[in-house]
Amino acid sequence: MFAHARKILRQLKKQGRYRSLTLPCGLDLSSNDYLGMASHPILREAAIAYFKEGNAGASGSRLLRGHTQRHQELEAFSAGVFGCERTLFFATGFQANYALLTTLPDRGDVVLYDEFAHASMRDGLMASRAKSFKFSHNDMDALEELLKRQRDKARNIWICAESVYSMDGDLAPLSVLYELAERYDAMLIIDEAHATGVFGEGGRGLAYGEICKNMGYERLITLHTCGKAIGVAGAIICANGDIIDYMINTSRPFIFSTAPMPVQAVLVHKSLEIILSTEGAKRREKLHEICRYTQQLLGGHGGHIVPLILGDDMRSVEVAGQLQKQGYDIRAIRPPSVPQGTARLRLSLSAHLNRENIEGFAGAYKKAVSRQV
Ligand SMILES: Cc1ncc(COP(=O)(O)O)c(C=O)c1O
Repeated sequence: MFAHARKILRQLKKQGRYRSLTLPCGLDLSSNDYLGMASHPILREAAIAYFKEGNAGASGSRLLRGHTQRHQELEAFSAGVFGCERTLFFATGFQANYALLTTLPDRGDVVLYDEFAHASMRDGLMASRAKSFKFSHNDMDALEELLKRQRDKARNIWICAESVYSMDGDLAPLSVLYELAERYDAMLIIDEAHATGVFGEGGRGLAYGEICKNMGYERLITLHTCGKAIGVAGAIICANGDIIDYMINTSRPFIFSTAPMPVQAVLVHKSLEIILSTEGAKRREKLHEICRYTQQLLGGHGGHIVPLILGDDMRSVEVAGQLQKQGYDIRAIRPPSVPQGTARLRLSLSAHLNRENIEGFAGAYKKAVSRQV
């Protein structure tokens, strides 16, 4: 067992894929705290105020003593925010995706998912009783081809995509996805992890304006992680009431796990209020301005996730290391997080950056890359 583990670790080192834990150091260019909410003083005060009277732990699963008024309040509030009948709060986005995909698609069903869908969706599918097939990234013709082939064979069809892809920062064609879901009578699951807080009316994400406002949640489920732009931790699943009831009754990751700490619900609630307010809009505008400026200097699609693709694993680690030494906290992303041959630095922009930061980084990055060639 240990010989096998050591062999794998040696291989990873040789390939430039060995990972170790590194404390934050230098200018933050790698977190998902896109709006700078993680350090918001109002959230800190809300945590202190909560702990003056509230318990630290939930002390049980949601179906036992772990369901608190704080969870209930957040779920009612977020249903109003995202315009759905009900929501369900989970401790992490990974758990929520895993719960969705191990619970809803069942034997006889087929799931069609974008090849770049997050590991939490793919791991859920591996454990699901449904069959699953991937389609090429954002290729709607390939998806339609699969829909045509599977429609008559499958009991239910589920389509899974992200609205903003976590490693490339590009957007999914949500309206086309929904149109295909309607045409082939499929259910659509959209992971809004990197869109929530950043895009859409009041930062509600992209599906809100493109689908939910007009079409509701009859054939749609959205997932909003709370550890990225919301700045806390957890995830909110938005759906119609039947789906939420079904999750509560049958989802093993929901049933057999301790509820999220109640303070998590308090902070997510507070953060969402700020994100929806004028202050949230100002933070978003600042972020988008930084995105535009970064695009001028480094190219790309102008989003808040900028993939600086270097290709080679080892080279990405070396370039990241040089930039870290100059005070830029940027990390190398290698397979299996991204496809083979597309190792990169994932530049993650946030509202706390200014033009000087970006200018300094762009200069240092270009120098580091030219030195490496
Ligand atoms: C698209 C996407 N979905 C889900 C997750 C998992 O969310 P969490 O970090 O809250 O577990 C992530 C995290 O990186 C993600 O990028």
